[in-house]
Amino acid sequence: MTERISIHGQWSSRLAFILAATGSAVGLGNIWKFPYITGENGGGAFVLVYLLCVLFIGIPIMMAEVLIGRRGRQSPINTMRTLAHEEHQHGIWQLIGWAGMVAGLLIISFYSVIAGWAVAYVFRTASGAFTGVTADGAASIFAGLVSDPERLLAWHTVFMAMTVVVVSRGVRSGLEKAVKILMPMLFVLLLLLVGYAMNSGKFAEGLAFLFTPDFSALTAGGVLTAMGHAFFTLSLGMGAIMVYGSYLPKNVSIAKTSVIVAIMDTLVALLAGMAIFPLVFANGLEPAAGPGLIFKTLPLAFGHMAGGTLFGTLFFLLLTFAAWTSAISLIEPAVAWLVENRGVDRAKASTVIGVIAWLLGIVTIMSFNSWAFEFTFAGEFKGSGLFDVLDILTANIMLPLGGLAMAIFAGWYMSERSTKDELNLGDGLLYRGWRFAVRFIAPLAVIIVFLQLLGVIKV
Ligand code: TRP
Repeated sequence: MTERISIHGQWSSRLAFILAATGSAVGLGNIWKFPYITGENGGGAFVLVYLLCVLFIGIPIMMAEVLIGRRGRQSPINTMRTLAHEEHQHGIWQLIGWAGMVAGLLIISFYSVIAGWAVAYVFRTASGAFTGVTADGAASIFAGLVSDPERLLAWHTVFMAMTVVVVSRGVRSGLEKAVKILMPMLFVLLLLLVGYAMNSGKFAEGLAFLFTPDFSALTAGGVLTAMGHAFFTLSLGMGAIMVYGSYLPKNVSIAKTSVIVAIMDTLVALLAGMAIFPLVFANGLEPAAGPGLIFKTLPLAFGHMAGGTLFGTLFFLLLTFAAWTSAISLIEPAVAWLVENRGVDRAKASTVIGVIAWLLGIVTIMSFNSWAFEFTFAGEFKGSGLFDVLDILTANIMLPLGGLAMAIFAGWYMSERSTKDELNLGDGLLYRGWRFAVRFIAPLAVIIVFLQLLGVIKV
């Protein structure tokens, strides 16, 4: 096969790809979502299932997604169409690309609203509003923000505009340098927060909550949430990593880079948990407080530590940045497809997608105030509001199904010769292990979790 070339360009090096993929993976999922869903699902057992999913499902599927992307070298829709044709398979496989594009739009619509909270908190913290704040005070500042649709809309608009600007210029320019400096800074600030939690929080209690598995606290729905989060936090199952893979130079090792990205992503999530739960317990807060958890706890740390206003402002700034580098990967598949198939330039394509996502974002904004209600029908959605429905539909259902389809395509429908050629691991244990994982472990795990939830089987 002659090597395909992407019309959108290539990453300049292995490091550039690692930075971009880590930028995509590390975001609100690690710092905002991981702590609150861990709190809602009882802690240790949930964390254990999540870690197992990253290891046995996430890493093999990430490798599959990158390899598919690099082989196709186009937007996920066109990549899947090309590869299905090349491997003599049915054209229906391009559905992976279409479903991924829809999932990406739905995710960015709420992701941008939550990222808006982080932007709002940059200014709130800088103004000194949290100095000496009490738990009740922090909670009411948060409630004030989410109950005000106009403020939410304003910050959502700012964040979406930031995302569109980067994507119009091409995800490669600038991203590299920025991630290289800002990601380590975020890491250092998280370490600082963990240090603060050690001195001023109930650290032992926090660690016990995170790392002592109590399986009686874990429901079938909790297992699904843990698995869904493994997909969400690694940016898997909708084509984001596939499109980043399509810009990956041919000589770079897919296995090594995938493992590095997964490790960094997991470390950031665990650090965030270790910073937050000791403070939750020390201040008598509720671990199951929901999406507001970090916005109600971290101000307590910043409000009482030396230099808290500075560190707090910097923290929310870096959180905004981490969300930003994730958001761009959520719309890149759709933008690349528009450029390829509609012949429009990147700026126009990004703007169109940005406007659609911005409009969809209004649903999430309203779900925290004017349209706040809970669905009462049974099943996964019982007790959920509109935002929860979007979150569950995408993270817990669409991403695992997308990942399942990618694993099956790479494991069963691509020839061994193609995947071997792309992974370049030889024919030893590593390649065999990967192939076994995408053929059996990952698909069976996803299917079992779904069947269990649907009540078809009882484990
Ligand atoms: N992984 C990012 C986070 O944890 C979010 C994200 C970016 C994402 N791109 C994605 C989630 C693609 C699913 C699919 O914040």
